[in-house]
Amino acid sequence: MVRATPFLLVLFLALGAHSATVKKCNLVGRWVNDLGSNMTITTVNANGNFVGSYHTAVSATTNEIQESPMQGSQQRTNHKGQPTFGFTVNWSFSDSITVFTGQCFVDEDGKEILKTMWLLRSRVENIKNDWKATRVGINVFTRL
Ligand code: BTN
Repeated sequence: MVRATPFLLVLFLALGAHSATVKKCNLVGRWVNDLGSNMTITTVNANGNFVGSYHTAVSATTNEIQESPMQGSQQRTNHKGQPTFGFTVNWSFSDSITVFTGQCFVDEDGKEILKTMWLLRSRVENIKNDWKATRVGINVFTRL
């Protein structure tokens, strides 16, 4: 046990240095996705909840696009870095809602990247049209 102590000390120091140098992915900031849409996440609180704004580059409607509020949550296990998250955009200019889910990664070049999938629910006039009310897709966000 006495002989193991220096070894353990070195191990703990090495592990500590490793975790101090591994870059974590932080959702706060300005992001752009592969469609050219911009998103700003202003704060993430201690519970992992966040708010922000979303300016989409495209729309399924012919309405004039306006910046829209978004709110979401990241996983509590964020201390491991690269957290999973979800957020909802409540579109200001249409009757639709989009939910995104994804993970915040640090790529091989040390750049943060958000890999997401989304469901866009459009309002339809009656239940017979429900089958065509939901679109699905992916978006990749990088830091602006
Ligand atoms: C609407 O068309 O009713 C609202 C705008 C929807 C924009 C969608 S949400 C998923 C995809 N990703 C974007 O950045 N914009 C589109």
